Amino acid sequence: MNGIDRDTAREKAGSNFWKGKTSQELFERSKRVAPGGVHSPVRSFRSVGGTPVFFASAEGATLTDIEGKKYIDYCLSFGPLILGHRDPEIEEVVRETAGIAWSFGAAEPYSLELAEWITQEIPWAEKVRFVNSGTEAVMSALRVARAATGREKILKFDGCYHGHSDALLVKAGSGLAGESSSDSAGISAHSIANTLVLPLDDENALQRLFETEGKNIAAVIIEPLPANYGLLIQRNEFIFKIVELARKNGTLVVFDEVISGFRTGLRGMSGLLGVAPDLVTYGKIIGGGFPVGCYAGKKELLDLVAPSGPVYQAGTLSGSPFGMRAGLATLQKAKRESVYEVLEKRTKVLSEGLVELLNTKSDRPWEAVTHSSLFWLRAKTLSPVRRIETIPEGHKEAFAKVFHVFLNNGIYLAPSGYEVGFLSWAHTDETVAETLSIAEKALKSV
Ligand SMILES: Cc1ncc(COP(=O)(O)O)c(C=O)c1O
Repeated sequence: MNGIDRDTAREKAGSNFWKGKTSQELFERSKRVAPGGVHSPVRSFRSVGGTPVFFASAEGATLTDIEGKKYIDYCLSFGPLILGHRDPEIEEVVRETAGIAWSFGAAEPYSLELAEWITQEIPWAEKVRFVNSGTEAVMSALRVARAATGREKILKFDGCYHGHSDALLVKAGSGLAGESSSDSAGISAHSIANTLVLPLDDENALQRLFETEGKNIAAVIIEPLPANYGLLIQRNEFIFKIVELARKNGTLVVFDEVISGFRTGLRGMSGLLGVAPDLVTYGKIIGGGFPVGCYAGKKELLDLVAPSGPVYQAGTLSGSPFGMRAGLATLQKAKRESVYEVLEKRTKVLSEGLVELLNTKSDRPWEAVTHSSLFWLRAKTLSPVRRIETIPEGHKEAFAKVFHVFLNNGIYLAPSGYEVGFLSWAHTDETVAETLSIAEKALKSV
């Protein structure tokens, strides 16, 4: 394609229409054509107030908005970008892929290479099936669990998010322990009738429920590092109890590692806990920033999936070469560079530094909860927060204030106090130091 053709193509795609516009203008336009002006709710800034920033480009640890302002990014697309935006090595792979094929809808070697890499690295992932999102991965894994056990019920925990499939958009009901109620309009009572919900961190409730329902529960699903309602780090004993009761009752253990997989280490939380789940779901990092999800587990379970077995699950774009190749390159680099230890240290330095600065300005002390390269800032509590009910009152409002002070000064946190922050390999020691110095000045000026 020559220069003129390329410009024409760009014009046709309307790619520069936003030049000279403000985020406010684009948001007003966007609200006319998309619900709430966005394509995923948290992006609307509803939780923190104000107008969402429209970003035009990103590189490394930096986002650039449509007006040219730069931000250090600690949201990182909610987790996939463990190497940062457009890591040069991954970018090369993506460019190369553009010249290979965009989608086959047929057998190809690229998904094979990623599948082999994963099954070699992760002992409990004997077989894998690629899908296009975390939602799809979880929904499909639970279908397999039901088919394998011949049971209908699923147990989940309040405060864990597993995507937006009907049966999982539930919260604890107000009646008997284990009862659920829908967490979204448009979900039939029928769809959630077989979803049981328990609080996190409560072995007694777990024990009681398994005594009555154990033999009806196909699978228990948990984020082994719950990171969708703040960061609710669980006691290992609680997770071990889940596994013990599940094994006793013939219930399958499904670890949802869509966030924690390849984030807390190459083997995720399963590896850190030393627990081999029956089924595990991945997403985010596994696609290197492209839409990929995956469910994996014991051979005999995955062999229930079509075409080798009776569980139907399919996808037009599943195994897209962009996601497969970017995902593999990302995982290989994360392993080669041993990113995990370094990122964990940097995350501690950043979040402890931020807390120290916040505490100079607030009569209510802050605290940083961190795990690997994830962090969550909230008011200090007397004991660890492991359940949603114990999140300090006023957290949402307190976070919103901090969010806007940081945003105005070029630090982009996820736009909700219930989302966690992430660091990437592109967040160097210098990036962290720069962030702290920006935060210091910003807080002094308010
Ligand atoms: C633990 C977990 N499971 C499932 C999902 C759903 O993934 P997706 O948004 O790719 O559908 C998410 C998304 O944040 C998640 O964090």
